[in-house]
Amino acid sequence: VITKIKARQILDSRGIPTVEVDLFTNKGMFRASVPSGDTTGMYEAVDLRDGDKGTFLGNSVTRAVKNINEKISEALIGMDPTLQPQIDHAMIDLDKTEKKGELGANAILAVSIAACKAGAAEKEVPLYKHIADISGETNLTLPVPAFTLISGGKHAGNHLAIQEIMILPVGASRFEEALQMGSETYHHLKAVITEKYGAHECNVGEDGGFAPNISSWKEGLDLLKEAIGRTGYNDRIKIAIDVAASDFCIGTKYDLEKKVPNKSGQNFKSAEDMIEMYKELCSEYPVVSIEDPFDKEDWEHVKHFSSLGICQVVGDDLLMSNPKRIQRAIQESSCNALLLKVNQIGTVTEAIEVVRQAKEANMGVVTSHRCGETEDSFISDLSVGLATGQIKAGAPCRGERLAKYNQSSLSNVSNM
Ligand code: PGA
Ligand code: ZN
Repeated sequence: VITKIKARQILDSRGIPTVEVDLFTNKGMFRASVPSGDTTGMYEAVDLRDGDKGTFLGNSVTRAVKNINEKISEALIGMDPTLQPQIDHAMIDLDKTEKKGELGANAILAVSIAACKAGAAEKEVPLYKHIADISGETNLTLPVPAFTLISGGKHAGNHLAIQEIMILPVGASRFEEALQMGSETYHHLKAVITEKYGAHECNVGEDGGFAPNISSWKEGLDLLKEAIGRTGYNDRIKIAIDVAASDFCIGTKYDLEKKVPNKSGQNFKSAEDMIEMYKELCSEYPVVSIEDPFDKEDWEHVKHFSSLGICQVVGDDLLMSNPKRIQRAIQESSCNALLLKVNQIGTVTEAIEVVRQAKEANMGVVTSHRCGETEDSFISDLSVGLATGQIKAGAPCRGERLAKYNQSSLSNVSNM
């Protein structure tokens, strides 16, 4: 049974406070911490911050920590950690608000994850196996990783409007091989950027992707194409893009030069122009997946673009891991894959439910990190246990990103 729960404030990969918790049972101590992102939409569960501008610029999480140490702890002590739905529902009931604003989704999720780890230990099974048991998933697979190699948008200080250009080592036969392919491409890309622009252009963005001061997507894709060419992997590596188009949507137009100083003002695109550009990218480069191609409220164009069937269309800002928005996407056949950000929903149980909802409608699922991460590798086990098939956890570089990829390598499904 759960004997003690003790939370504290730690700093995430950006140096911003977040919540960490130690949950104790007779089997030992189980630690979990939660990430946070740059986007915090209206439909996301609440990332509770103190808001005192004089402390950590308003970002401290001492209220969330206190909620764990007092209210949540009192409610959960004595519970069986293997009963994930009961634990999560006890916290949901205690919070009583739709978006977990009372206790904070950061407080609730930290405890939910720690309890899940304790549940696996109680059963003496690997974490991914425990997650598979809770969800009823039997067809376990290791995910294809989406490595961020070029960063832009809100995640980097360069001129690139789009947020990420990623590689998918789809031709790898094992996860370790995918990781090797990602690492080799990353280092070849570093050499390509150094030769072309100089070593000072090899700085990285928040997810560890290189952030050379390019402003066009094609420039980024050409750099990547050259790097992939040098690896010799050729068509065993495909490309995915996270446009995060809401970041540079102005009214009904997209400002591709949003981050460019003294810009020409000529680069405003309509949604139709964007569709033409996506078609071109998918035919000229091995682009097989595009995330958030339009503004998060532009359901119509997402639907139209998906209907063309040229690539996987992932809903991140569009869906916000919110069951009502996923339902709408299913009904309207808009995007065809869900980006699962566990902290946007706030408990392991609800994350399992949205994955089930998406899969039942034949949507793909990409388990995702956030830009502000910790070294907690829970999402790796989650992606294996729920067989989401894809994981996006940043570059094959930086400790908080590698914590996930290295953990995925460890989950040896064939030994189950
Ligand atoms: P975020 O970015 O964590 O800043 O929201 C991740 C993503 O857009 O996929
Ligand atoms: Zn995204």
